[in-house]
Amino acid sequence: DIRAAEAYAPSNIALSKYWGKRDAARNLPLNSSVSISLANWGSHTRVEGSGTGHDEVHHNGTLLDPGDAFARRALAFADLFRGGRHLPLRITTQNSIPTAAGLASSASGFAALTRALAGAFGLDLDDTDLSRIARIGSGSAARSIWHGFVRWNRGEAEDGHDSHGVPLDLRWPGFRIAIVAVDKGPKPFSSRDGMNHTVETSPLFPPWPAQAEADCRVIEDAIAARDMAALGPRVEANALAMHATMMAARPPLCYLTGGSWQVLERLWQARADGLAAFATMDAGPNVKLIFEESSAADVLYLFPDASLIAPFEGR
Ligand code: DP6
Repeated sequence: DIRAAEAYAPSNIALSKYWGKRDAARNLPLNSSVSISLANWGSHTRVEGSGTGHDEVHHNGTLLDPGDAFARRALAFADLFRGGRHLPLRITTQNSIPTAAGLASSASGFAALTRALAGAFGLDLDDTDLSRIARIGSGSAARSIWHGFVRWNRGEAEDGHDSHGVPLDLRWPGFRIAIVAVDKGPKPFSSRDGMNHTVETSPLFPPWPAQAEADCRVIEDAIAARDMAALGPRVEANALAMHATMMAARPPLCYLTGGSWQVLERLWQARADGLAAFATMDAGPNVKLIFEESSAADVLYLFPDASLIAPFEGR
């Protein structure tokens, strides 16, 4: 029997990116990644038996059409828990991420859905189990099981049992993120399609996995040392290298728009003048900045409509 269960999961931003799969069905990555979860931005999800006898997915107060891409992906994921049994579900998700921030919600969405489904089906799973399952829904969701800094180990096993998130026992109270929204529109190409196309066609992709693995180690050490001068340049280089792999894909793929490059140019100019803030970009045009609290006023002066986020430190 299905009981009603609710769960929350935070959104996260990768400091060293996940880009490329070695197994699409199990959703196993070619490289490890490191992220920071966002304090108050995430997904709240409720799962219960559907009274109507058929599946329903509600997102931010709207009942989704059965053909909706998100509804289909969420229900296909729920099938992992249903295992062929006829158990109609009602899934209700609420996002606390301002749409203006243009942040992807698949990471927090699948992490919260995993927790809620585990509760609804009465499964006694630990966070590592939940991370492995969330990974199957969306890779970046493997990291959204925890607050704070998280590493997703690529793992070596064919069945994926060692490919899951690991919470890093690292705190950095002054660490800040700001999101500079460039464009709120939906992305024309999902990160899933983008990474598959890049792996298949980009001559610049082959060196990426080893470089990303090395970046993860440097980034983790820099977080441990709370060393922004070591962290920032590596985070920015990692993101730009990921975007370089896509721009070299055939046909090319570029999520960054003129607005993104304008933000980067302003940032680089300010950096030449001494500002210690660094950029990272995902499968969309918005630019996320990382810096320390002491630079927050300068960052907001430079980008007045940026959204400032203090990562959750209460672990
Ligand atoms: C650029 O986790 O959305 O944000 O596993 O196919 O669902 P799927 O991909 P997804 O990819 C995220 C890519 C990224 C980098 C990152 O978050 O590490």
